[in-house]
Amino acid sequence: MLEEKDIPKQWYNLAADLPTPRQPPLAPDGSVLKPEMLERVFPANIIEQEVSTFRWINIPEEILEILTLWRPAPLRRALAMEKYLKTPARIYYKDESVSPAGSHKPNTAVAQAWYNKKFGIQRLTTETGAGQWGSALAFACNLIGLKCRVYMVRISFDQKPMRKTMMQAWGAECIASPSPHTRTGRKILKEMPHTPGSLGIAISEAVEDAVSDRSGKSRYSLGSVLNHLLLHQTIIGLEVKKQLKIAGEKQPDVVIGCAGGGSNFAGIAFPFVCDKIHGKKIEIIPVEPTACPTLTKGPFTYDFGDIAGLTPLLAMYTLGHNFIPEPIHAGGLRYHGLAPLVSQAAVEGLIKPRAFDQVKCFKSAMLWARTEGAIPAPETSHAIACAIDEAKKAKQEAKQKVILFCYSGHGLMDLAGYDKFLSGKLRAYSLPRHKIRDSLCALKKFPVAKKIKTGRW
Ligand SMILES: Cc1ncc(COP(=O)(O)O)c(C=O)c1O
Repeated sequence: MLEEKDIPKQWYNLAADLPTPRQPPLAPDGSVLKPEMLERVFPANIIEQEVSTFRWINIPEEILEILTLWRPAPLRRALAMEKYLKTPARIYYKDESVSPAGSHKPNTAVAQAWYNKKFGIQRLTTETGAGQWGSALAFACNLIGLKCRVYMVRISFDQKPMRKTMMQAWGAECIASPSPHTRTGRKILKEMPHTPGSLGIAISEAVEDAVSDRSGKSRYSLGSVLNHLLLHQTIIGLEVKKQLKIAGEKQPDVVIGCAGGGSNFAGIAFPFVCDKIHGKKIEIIPVEPTACPTLTKGPFTYDFGDIAGLTPLLAMYTLGHNFIPEPIHAGGLRYHGLAPLVSQAAVEGLIKPRAFDQVKCFKSAMLWARTEGAIPAPETSHAIACAIDEAKKAKQEAKQKVILFCYSGHGLMDLAGYDKFLSGKLRAYSLPRHKIRDSLCALKKFPVAKKIKTGRW
C-alpha cells in the first residue's frame, strides 16, 4: 500500500514521448479536425487535454480528494498462484477492483464529470458495454451533481441486469441499446430487430442524444479510447512504480493489461512504455479476445469510433465501425477499435498484443478464484490468462521474472458468465478471416481509410 499523501499529483501523457508524432484526428471529409469542432460533444477544458502534448498534467486537488475514496489502490503479490504454478516468477497485480463501481473506470469518470461540471454542463450521456463504465459514470455524476443517461449494449443489459440497478442506485438512467430514443437506434432496430448491440451503436446513440439537446447543457462522456481518458488512467501505473520500489523491485520484466478500448491497459502500461522508449527492456502486452481481435488481426487505418459515423475519424487498429462482435461475456472488450495512442505504440513495436478465447480466459479466472480467492471480471481474466502463460514460460526458462498485470475489475456482477462456463455451455470462438474481410470491405471503399497503410491492410 502507498500512503494517501503519496498518490501521484500529475497524470502522464505518452503523446509527449512517442517516437513518431500521432496521426491527427480527421473530420468526415478527410480534413484535419479542428479542436473547436468537438465543442458540441465535449467541454473545452477536456478538448484541451485531448490535444495536449505536455508530458505531465496536474491533477486538480478536488479530483484527488474524491479519488482518495478508494485510492491509492493496493498492489498485491499473487503468492498462492505462484505457489500453485511452481514458478520462479514474482506475479504482482494492481487491484483496481476496489473502486466503488468495481473497476478502473471511476479514475476517469470522476475526472470527466468534474471538468464538465466546472464548464457549466448539467447532464452527461454515455455508452456502456459490460456496465462497468456506466456504473462508474453514474457514481461520479452523483457525487459531482450531474444528471446521467447510459446506453447499455443490449446483450450486456440482458446478461448483467444488476448493473442497471447499480446505475439507478446512483441516480442515473440506464437504457438498452439499440433503443427507440434516438434516430440511430430506431434505424438499427428496424434493420436488425434481434441484434445483441455493440459499443459502436451505443456510442452513436449517446453522442446523438447529447448533441441534440437544445439546452446546450448536455455533453457526451466516453469510457475508453480517447487521449484524455488514457491520461486519467495513468494514475494506475504511476502508483505501481512507487509501490514496486517499496516491494524492493527495480522494474517489471513483463507488463500486461486486457484491452477493449485500451484505457486500463494504457493506465498500467504507459508509464512503463515511457521507460521502454528510454532504453529499459520490458515486454508490454495488451490482451484482447479472439472474438474481437482488433490489434492482432485488424489494420491500422482511419475509422470512426461509432457505427453512425458521428465521431471524428481516428487513426487506430480497427475491425471496421460496422463490426458487431459475437456476444462474448467480456462485454467491455467488444469494441471494434483500439485507442489511437495504444495503436501508435503497437505500430512502433513498443507493445506486443496477444488474443485469447473466452474458454481459456474463464479457465484462468477459475484458477485465480481457487488460488487467490477473488472472482475477476471476464475482461480481467484475459490479463490473468496471459500472466499465467508468462509465469509458466518463466518456469521453463528458470528465470526469476517480475510479472505485473492490471486486475481491472471484479466479476461479482458477471456471474451469469461463470454459470455458463461451469455448466459447460461456453464455447471458444475466434473471429474467422472471412468475417474480418467482410467487415473491412466497407472501410476499403472509404478514401481516408487508405491514407495510412500497414503491411496487413
Ligand atoms: C473490468 C474491465 N476491464 C477492462 C475493460 C476494458 O476497457 P478498457 O480497454 O477501456 O480498459 C472493461 C470495460 O468495460 C472492464 O469493465
